[in-house]
Amino acid sequence: MCGIFCLLSLSGSHSECEKTIKEHLRRRGPDSSRDVTVTGSDARYRCSLSAHVLHMRGHLTPQPLEDDAGNVLLWNGEVFGGFPVAAEENDTTAVSKRLSSCSSSSQILGVLSSVRGPWGFVYYQKAGDYLWFGRDFLGRRSLLWSFDVELGALTLTSVAACSSGRHWQEVPAAGVYRMDLKAAAACSSVTFEMFPWAHRGEDALSSCSEATLGCVPDGCCAVINQSGLVLPSPVCPLNKSTPLTLEITDFEQNTHFSAQDLERLLERQDEPETVKRLIDVLSEAVRRRVQCLPLREDDSVMNDHAAVAILFSGGVDSMILAALADRHVPPHQPIDLLNVAFKLQEPKKRSEPTKKAKKQQGKPAESRPFSPFDVPDRITGRAGLKELQNLNPERSWNFVEINVTQEELQKTRLERICHLVHPLDTVLDDSIGCAVWFAARGAGLIAGDDGQRPFTSAAKVILTGIGADEQLAGYSRHRVHFKTSGYEGLIQELAMELGRISSRNLGRDDRVIADHGKEARFPYLDEDVVSFLNGLAVWDKARLTLPRGVGEKLLLRLAARRLGLGPAAVLPKRAMQFGSRIAKMEDGHEKASDKCSRLLTG
Ligand SMILES: *[C@@H]1O[C@H](CO)[C@@H](O)[C@H](O)[C@H]1NC(C)=O
Ligand SMILES: *[C@@H]1O[C@H](CO)[C@@H](O)[C@H](O)[C@H]1NC(C)=O
Ligand SMILES: *[C@@H]1O[C@H](CO)[C@@H](O)[C@H](O)[C@H]1NC(C)=O
Ligand SMILES: *[C@@H]1O[C@H](CO)[C@@H](O)[C@H](O)[C@H]1NC(C)=O
Repeated sequence: MCGIFCLLSLSGSHSECEKTIKEHLRRRGPDSSRDVTVTGSDARYRCSLSAHVLHMRGHLTPQPLEDDAGNVLLWNGEVFGGFPVAAEENDTTAVSKRLSSCSSSSQILGVLSSVRGPWGFVYYQKAGDYLWFGRDFLGRRSLLWSFDVELGALTLTSVAACSSGRHWQEVPAAGVYRMDLKAAAACSSVTFEMFPWAHRGEDALSSCSEATLGCVPDGCCAVINQSGLVLPSPVCPLNKSTPLTLEITDFEQNTHFSAQDLERLLERQDEPETVKRLIDVLSEAVRRRVQCLPLREDDSVMNDHAAVAILFSGGVDSMILAALADRHVPPHQPIDLLNVAFKLQEPKKRSEPTKKAKKQQGKPAESRPFSPFDVPDRITGRAGLKELQNLNPERSWNFVEINVTQEELQKTRLERICHLVHPLDTVLDDSIGCAVWFAARGAGLIAGDDGQRPFTSAAKVILTGIGADEQLAGYSRHRVHFKTSGYEGLIQELAMELGRISSRNLGRDDRVIADHGKEARFPYLDEDVVSFLNGLAVWDKARLTLPRGVGEKLLLRLAARRLGLGPAAVLPKRAMQFGSRIAKMEDGHEKASDKCSRLLTG
């Protein structure tokens, strides 16, 4: 993960990257920083490019990366597939080489759409004076833009600052943008030519709505080139078929589902093949994300640090990631399970929260004294740890208990997190942003030989389960849609949610996690996984006639069972803001979609 930044000035004035933004960028890429400035032949425009690199694979490749022809690449991404990148090769170099050899726009679009993996990029193409930029199909990397009308200056950056007095927006992950710099300098106005992502058979105009074209900074405009060039989508479209009849089985009348019932369902499944294929495709996605990882330099001596960590609640999404990571991470290497909890208020009656916790866990917990950090995710996390230890007792599983107090939350939110969440601004963005930031920092306690000891995860790669709920109907709102408008309503909702996951979640999570010099990776959003799930009929993924804790993400639960996981397979979904109890810490009356006043600084 890198911090990339581009400041294009059309008036010839010398603006610079603000100091705070530069600090935020450097935290994303602590391993190398560099600036490059290019100017038009008649000096009408001036483009300052800078990059801060987090070294992940191959040799450290400083960026901006200039080729012999004078093209300059800023690449914040990973090539997990699409074209060969050898284990010791740096993918930035590989992408740059491919882009260098392009002589037309359609070739550049071809290179970008062939990449399998997340990316945000800026590319200065010297021949023709073009500036290209954009984000991958799902928007797994952040890119923000802002235009200063007075100065005639466009800024693109991985992360901004909320106090800069500028109006930042996320670059829509709707396609790739190209700017003709000479033309822009000549008329001092900014027009982006947009090449939208499109499925096979779709043309540019039908795949790109007016609303998307309107999503540009004030003072700029976007057009679709009449030539109709598109970026071929890297995933296949969503299967929208609905069942002719709804067959209600005796299973669907059973209201108390156990892991054993799931087992029986697995045996009876018409298509056990689908479960196996899901495991295969997901396992491969995890493999691609945990291989060829460098250990931190200071580890070479000790060499007992994990290279991979998982945001871990003990729920089915994170349990599956852990079980699959276990297949691909070298056996002697630990895996860090990051479990975040926000401090609970001491209850008036001592037994209250434990009772609730017992119920949520679905089985009686051993009686422990009240701990203010025993939030629901901590309890399921511990249970999940036990399951993983049973699954592979040889593996060293570092269950990192990350306890956060209200004082620390408030201080850190103002100092750091508000800048990272920006320009998103709701109560939900605040809750998730803060919870993910503390979890990703990985500083907490692990069990030692005699009691707990302080521990900080050094893993550079953090796997998260995001995307599972959006694709396999895991949220309770999916039940609402299903109840009110059946499979059609459900499919519409799922299509909409995958379409907006970049602007709702991914840019924010990327900014928040990268702040620790770590990289978020999303196996459920691997192109092959998305394609596989998109191809299935919706009732193969979720069966919302079945009870909660089973029907949502049914296919994933069956996969968990087949992987040998027990009770974790039938835990109902608990959103992170509730599971970690961060939502409890703040004003209980606000709605998740309200603007969050706590994110505003001075
Ligand atoms: C990786 O990047 C470095 C620095 O840019 C370069 O010297 C080296 O040749 C690259 N290695 C490969 C295998 O592409
Ligand atoms: C459309 O693309 C073609 C080829 O890249 C280019 O020559 C033309 O100027 C573009 N049209 C507009 C309106 O930008
Ligand atoms: C953190 O919370 C756990 C309970 O989930 C507790 O065992 C541990 O002692 C707490 N640590 C600190 C430093 O509060
Ligand atoms: C959609 O799902 C149905 C039912 O499983 C299947 O018959 C059909 O081939 C699928 N369509 C596509 C385009 O994959």
